[in-house]
Amino acid sequence: MSDLPETPRLIELKKIGGPALGYLSVAEAEKEVPFEIRRVYWTYHTPDEVERGHHAHQRLRQVIFAVSGIIRIELEARSGVVEEFSLDRPNTGLYVPGGYWRRMHFSHNAVLLCLASEEYDEEEYIRDYEAFRKEGE
Ligand code: TYD
Repeated sequence: MSDLPETPRLIELKKIGGPALGYLSVAEAEKEVPFEIRRVYWTYHTPDEVERGHHAHQRLRQVIFAVSGIIRIELEARSGVVEEFSLDRPNTGLYVPGGYWRRMHFSHNAVLLCLASEEYDEEEYIRDYEAFRKEGE
């Protein structure tokens, strides 16, 4: 294992099938998903004028999919560097390590599916942007 800090990256899943029957994609723990999956959640019916997110996680690792629709995700590192990703295919996931502030926009039909490395723990959230940036100094 490298000592370099982990960074966000897109994970491309196989598409099994074809246009005649439709497609299937699969993500297995410790294979396509680089952790043991302890929680799955999804969000839906998010109005397209709404921005969600506005938090970071201390150590939670996630792979996020737009299984339907389009989701734009801005990830800000503690250094202040912002990277933007557009999830618009059900077989493409975004790996998000701990320590990234996120802002998310959804198309009206978007369904976000998240595979997470930990159970829900509100204590582990960083919801104060100034505190988040200070930890990077
Ligand atoms: P939050 O993570 O803030 O979602 P978003 O960034 O998409 O707006 O969660 C929204 C609410 O749902 C918040 O009150 C916490 C609750 N929640 C749970 O109870 N369990 C969970 O696994 C998650 C992800 C959220």
